[in-house]
Amino acid sequence: MTMNLTRVPGLLYGGDWNPEQWSEEVWAEDVKLMAEAGVNLVTVGVFSWARLQPAAHSWDFGWLDRLLDLVHAHGIAVDLATATASPPAWLVRAHPELLPVTADGVRLEFGSRQHYCPSSTAYRAAAVRLTRALATRYRHHPALVLWHVHNEYGDHVQECFCPASAADFRRWLRERHGTVEELNRSWGTAFWSQRYNSFDQVEPPRTAPGPVNPTQLLDWRRFCSDALLALHRAEKAALDEISPGVPVTTNFMSMFKALDYWEWSRHEDFVSDDAYPDPADPRAHVNAAMNYDLMRSLKAGRPWLLMEQAPSAVSWRPVNVPKPPGLYRLWSLQALARGADGVLHFQWRASVAGAEKFHSAMLPHRGTAGRGWRETVALGAELRRLGEVAGSRMRGRAAVLLDWDSWWALELDDHPSARMRWLDLLRPWYAALYERGVTVDFLPPGGELTRYPLALAPNLYLLDTADADRLDAYVRGGGHLVCGPFSGVTDRHDHIHPGGQPGPLRELLGVVVDEPWPIPDGESTALDLDGVGLSALRWSEWIETSDAEASDTETNGAETIAHYTSGPLANRPAVTRRRHGDGTAWYLSCHLDAADTGRVLDLPLAEAGVGAELPGLPAGVEATRRRAADGTEYLFLLNHGSVERYVALDRPGTDLLTGTAATGLTLAPLGAAVLRIPPTEERA
Ligand code: GLA
Repeated sequence: MTMNLTRVPGLLYGGDWNPEQWSEEVWAEDVKLMAEAGVNLVTVGVFSWARLQPAAHSWDFGWLDRLLDLVHAHGIAVDLATATASPPAWLVRAHPELLPVTADGVRLEFGSRQHYCPSSTAYRAAAVRLTRALATRYRHHPALVLWHVHNEYGDHVQECFCPASAADFRRWLRERHGTVEELNRSWGTAFWSQRYNSFDQVEPPRTAPGPVNPTQLLDWRRFCSDALLALHRAEKAALDEISPGVPVTTNFMSMFKALDYWEWSRHEDFVSDDAYPDPADPRAHVNAAMNYDLMRSLKAGRPWLLMEQAPSAVSWRPVNVPKPPGLYRLWSLQALARGADGVLHFQWRASVAGAEKFHSAMLPHRGTAGRGWRETVALGAELRRLGEVAGSRMRGRAAVLLDWDSWWALELDDHPSARMRWLDLLRPWYAALYERGVTVDFLPPGGELTRYPLALAPNLYLLDTADADRLDAYVRGGGHLVCGPFSGVTDRHDHIHPGGQPGPLRELLGVVVDEPWPIPDGESTALDLDGVGLSALRWSEWIETSDAEASDTETNGAETIAHYTSGPLANRPAVTRRRHGDGTAWYLSCHLDAADTGRVLDLPLAEAGVGAELPGLPAGVEATRRRAADGTEYLFLLNHGSVERYVALDRPGTDLLTGTAATGLTLAPLGAAVLRIPPTEERA
């Protein structure tokens, strides 16, 4: 039995609609055109606070009543926003202290959006009041199928350094550390005479003369994610209380550093995401695939919703390139291919005023005469043909470990190299897997890995011993683990693990780092992988493999799989493997580009028996599979390349887009197919 995200059947299609920018005659035209385009869900009210509550004690719901009735009369469902992302001028002037303050002490002014301090009680009270008012008024409205909390938490403002934030930070620290002695220990305040006598002496990490205490910065990152989450939870609690049974979501921003989405997603009824791959970037679809895999993984494979994408160009890059014909369709199908149950947009009708008037929309400025409109209508029709895909699930073949604590700690200052950035480390690994057609799920390091034969950890700079123990048990249970460089370095307080890196993974991997050896910009260090030359960039390490006899395991020590051949590390090991029964633990001590990362990963992939989703796939074609509860498969084939490609299927299927039965098919440049493949007998 598959469950849809909302009670709207099929795939969701529509976008943000900002009717407060338009007259009611335009609304009438809008709903007619929505029906023509096959829109079945609109997000209403995201930035409507000033219209809904024009002053502290005055409310204006009449227009929204009429709007929801109108939409409902046209058979369109509503994702109703709580409208809290842009507090109105009257509220800001009554409570100037709710404006956020930067690390340099500058209070940010009204006149944009997202101008609030996450710890402001005045902001929170007003936001919850508005949420409650909306929930009370519309909970039984027949158009309502989804609540949209706020908008993109952490967009523009992720932190605030005002006195209210400082007090909230101190409360959070008390809860986390209990006593000031524990705080001193955890922050290592014996260094540079940073000892505190009481929590009252602690401040947020405002701009200081030199490097700020790293654990203070790490705790600050954790606190800032939690402070925004507390706001979200307050609105969600109001909605759950007043409007039970209607799902609630807030739109994430893909792989976004400031918010620990593992934690956040626990408070979502389903995950929704805003994604804006850059049409000017020929590799944008690889990053998009990575982000979509994360969104699917946040709720262990459950369908998610693409809440926003641009039909064509955005307006916030220095140069905003439109999507050429076919790209909008292809990228929309890509989100579905990776587990989305709908494709929504920013926005329905292009604005004529305001900061986003050059942003594309489903209905462009040119109206129904424009190419954009034809593509909007065409995509709506195709999504209707794909309705049965809703509720089916995609699962990756390998696991990639991702941890926000580690991401935050990795990117703190005064490290051996400032070039070790999580996304830069992750991308070549992901790209190598993508090129090989190997699909992946993301998991936290403490996640349930046993169903994956292969787990990849491009970087786990900060690694708790409990998580390391789980990785150890995974390998000893027959799993294959590959760890990237600069891993197992610190504990959860960002203190160096004793005995050398990779800390709690030393025994498992059978290696110890004597010294990290960062590579200056523009230089590289050569490696030999069984006669093939590779090039390390950014990072290398002087590692030593542990002596098998000194080991307390019955296994052999680590074998050298690749070694450095140039520079001070020449002849030293670069890539190692240690066997533990049927399992293996690999260590890659340097950073490589995607092509070289792939050459290394081919070995553990082969050993773990992990292959492509569809073997023999031509270059540029992406293949993913979703499975319905009854065993029906939906094979998505997407040609991201500029040449025609023939794809042979492993089992015959019917292309839902064309209705044609096929055992193989030719995809035009930017072409796509979605094949329904009936369950095999034993699966059915
Ligand atoms: C984000 C926001 C929208 C809009 C778009 C523009 O996703 O949520 O309100 O600003 O970006 O791309």
